[in-house]
Amino acid sequence: MDTSAPFSTLIRAATEQQHNEAEHSTFMRDLLTGQLGVEAFYRYTAQLWFVYAALEKHSAALASDAIAGPFVKPELARLASLEADLAHLGGENWRDELTALPATAAYAARIEECAGDWPAGYVVHHYTRYLGDLSGGQVIRGTAEKLWNLPKKGDGVRFYVFEGIANPAAFKREYRAALDQLPLDGPEVDRVLDEARRAFTMNTDMFRELAAEHSPASSRT
Ligand code: HEM
Repeated sequence: MDTSAPFSTLIRAATEQQHNEAEHSTFMRDLLTGQLGVEAFYRYTAQLWFVYAALEKHSAALASDAIAGPFVKPELARLASLEADLAHLGGENWRDELTALPATAAYAARIEECAGDWPAGYVVHHYTRYLGDLSGGQVIRGTAEKLWNLPKKGDGVRFYVFEGIANPAAFKREYRAALDQLPLDGPEVDRVLDEARRAFTMNTDMFRELAAEHSPASSRT
């Protein structure tokens, strides 16, 4: 790959195939075509709790990091919204039911590892989730509201609603500009792009384990 292109272009191109695989995974397809019940959506949301707990656990420290700092923004923080959604979907005992699938635990552990000692790796995980949530996440929100009769932009789908981002397209443009400013040299670019593919694959692994638990035959709608 020509590593002289802007980094935002490189990361998008490098992960295009993995994005397709994640988007067209069996679990996502079954979920978004109404073949799974709301309990599958609840279980998926619970997995996201572990991912965002890992992404947001060290926000305060990372906010002052030269590499990761420009990406850590309070308007992106999702954990409180996820907790409101889980309380709505699972009821008052949601915390007792909260368990991570093995793929989710591995994914969260990898995010924490990067947060601890590789800020550029952390940025890649940050990009993979938050820019995705601001893009395809909006498709998921609309579908979930209709399928399971959830209040529009309310409890159950708050995770997908970025109250503090009035113009997502402009926000994404600025985010990509910040990606292009990352001071990465040749070998580090390759390493970071490998991590980006890994980040997407870890999402697909999570979807595979969710599909093993929730299939059209096993679900009530
Ligand atoms: C049903 C599932 C999904 C749909 C329908 C979907 C759809 C989309 C769409 C329409 C875009 C906008 C591209 C643009 O801005 O021009 C996008 C971007 C993106 N998606 Fe997804 N996506 C899905 C799943 C995922 C997953 C599982 C991930 C990773 C966890 C992900 C990560 C991303 C990222 C990082 C971007 C930003 C790409 C860039 O502009 O650099 N998406 N997605």
